[in-house]
Amino acid sequence: MTQRTVKISFSDSDRVIELPLLSGSIGPDVIDTRALGSHGIFTFDPGFLSTASCASDITYIDGDQGLLYYRGYPIEQLAEHSDFLETAYLLLRGELPNAEQKEAFVGKIKGQTMLHDQMVNSFKGYRRDAHPMAVMVGVVGAMSAFYRNSSDSFDPKQRDIAAFRLLAKIPTIAAWSYKYNIGEPFAYPQNKLGYAENFMHMMFATPCEDYVPNPVLARALDRIFLLHADHEQNASSSTVRVVGSSGATPFACIAAGIASLWGPLHGGANEATLKMLEEIGDVSRIGDYIKKAKDKTSGFRLMGFGHRVYKNMDPRAKIMRQTCYEVLDELGLHDDPLFKLALELERIALEDEYFVKKRLYPNVDFYSGIVMRAMGIPNSMFTAIFALARTAGWVAQWMEMISSQDHKIARPRQLYTGSVRRDFVPIEQRG
Ligand code: SDX
Repeated sequence: MTQRTVKISFSDSDRVIELPLLSGSIGPDVIDTRALGSHGIFTFDPGFLSTASCASDITYIDGDQGLLYYRGYPIEQLAEHSDFLETAYLLLRGELPNAEQKEAFVGKIKGQTMLHDQMVNSFKGYRRDAHPMAVMVGVVGAMSAFYRNSSDSFDPKQRDIAAFRLLAKIPTIAAWSYKYNIGEPFAYPQNKLGYAENFMHMMFATPCEDYVPNPVLARALDRIFLLHADHEQNASSSTVRVVGSSGATPFACIAAGIASLWGPLHGGANEATLKMLEEIGDVSRIGDYIKKAKDKTSGFRLMGFGHRVYKNMDPRAKIMRQTCYEVLDELGLHDDPLFKLALELERIALEDEYFVKKRLYPNVDFYSGIVMRAMGIPNSMFTAIFALARTAGWVAQWMEMISSQDHKIARPRQLYTGSVRRDFVPIEQRG
């Protein structure tokens, strides 16, 4: 089949540059601009609004249709029929596991949930009131100092060991960041428990009494992990790819991903959404906040709304809203005022001309905080849980990047707008 191309012509000369036009299996075509630099010209796209940074087989999003596929499987089907570790296998290996493969994968993760005992001291270097995300960035980065036989990103064997260590230990690190914050003793992983149950155990168990995770809540939490597992080239996954492109250790890459996710415009939005709902407080005040969100000078944004890619309802938000109903019913909280407030805020916003015109819909962060709060998880842990879940996607993206035939260190260029060449002026001659 003949190569499709794009021709760039210039209004001020008869120069024409021809570039290849590439197609994926689904989704928009891309112009391969790699050769553009040799013509002495760059593309300019701060924030990467129209830039594909890589080719990837992992996750596909159609923002207009509100579609999300992990390795081709719709998120709705995975949320209903699969579980987080099976989905993590899918993201990492590209196919759903058979029963034997799943058992071996889960068994390998269960066997590595403990941290090197010396790592306990990594937590003690923080103030007790440190945000769990600050602790997670540090402790995950410190894994490079403890697991040196899985730090060489260019060695496929070490990559696989690192992947299992990260998936197995991130729940322990997240839960212990919380335990350290509230001054309770660390609860060690119980490998007889499932992945979500074990996390709940490490979050809520104390030496003084038995703790049995509620199976309905554990299933809901596992689904929350699954929904957050990957999301193609979002800010934190792109961060992991850029950091990883230099050959940095896998632990340094994931620590960088956690740092990026923490931002309130990204994964920190779930915590910010709950704070916003608590601040609105009552349905009667929704109008004021909608008005503030539409007033550019206010600097206020409706947290949990809008998305760079989704210009339709985030499919994860729909599933999260359903999970809200299930969890609140299980807990006898169907009249939870915050949930009712969120439903009313969503209804009003979706009827408001500003939000309709700008195609701003609830995203994954709009309902997740309500579910987690109802489960007794504090606001400060919402993004930590997002990071726990996204570790599966970050590892899959990192593995795809570092093992790619086209692997190159990420090194964007720029449009220089600073001073042209000028000579140094001795201090006595300066104004
Ligand atoms: C996540 O990328 C991913 O995939 C991320 C994520 C993942 O799984 O990894 O999906 C997770 O990060 C979800 C997003 C969580 N963030 C929030 O909920 C924070 C609130 N939303 C935003 O600030 C905003 O919508 C972003 C950051 C999510 C998207 O920003 P964009 O694509 O850069 O869009 P923009 O800031 O240029 O906004 C476009 C317009 C602007 O108005 P104009 O300048 O065109 O007049 O929409 C307005 C914005 O002012 N706008 C909002 C708004 N979001 C955008 N106005 C009010 N409230 C909002 N929430």
